[in-house]
Amino acid sequence: MSMSFFAILLLSLVLSGCDIFDPESIRARNFLPPPTYQGSVERGEVNYKNNCARCHGVDMAGTAEGPPLMNKTYGSSHHADLSFYHAVKNGVKQHHWKYGDMPMLTGISPEEVSDIVAFVRFQQQLRGIK
Ligand code: HEC
Repeated sequence: MSMSFFAILLLSLVLSGCDIFDPESIRARNFLPPPTYQGSVERGEVNYKNNCARCHGVDMAGTAEGPPLMNKTYGSSHHADLSFYHAVKNGVKQHHWKYGDMPMLTGISPEEVSDIVAFVRFQQQLRGIK
């Protein structure tokens, strides 16, 4: 048995007692759904209307308060799904347009954002936005 074996054993005992490397706590800290969660287009449509439509538009064509999500800027090759979780959790500083900042949103879960992403991607796909 080498010293490094004991060092690793000790380290893993210490780490297992705290949660910084626990996948569940990493997920919660980063505001992400469990990896097995399947976003639902149907639920996403409802969640979108309740939380996002007032700025991004009922038809996702944008309003005076926010940009259109049916735009190549927000296709999955330009804005990864992660940017949706990030936008909801932290808000977005104005940078692409002149609508002002997006405020952080509360009262919405990562699972609900996952549903919204499914709905947005589905609608983008119908319009050939990649
Ligand atoms: C109060 C208005 C408002 C609401 C509500 C709102 N947004 Fe936004 N959102 C904005 C504005 C404004 C921007 C554009 C910021 C810029 O890039 O200039 C934006 C940008 C974004 C972006 C791009 C982020 C990036 O990285 O550039 C995403 C994704 C997004 N919104 C998703 C959502 C989702 C999902 C919801 C509902 C859960 C939502 N927004 C609700 C105003 C809003």
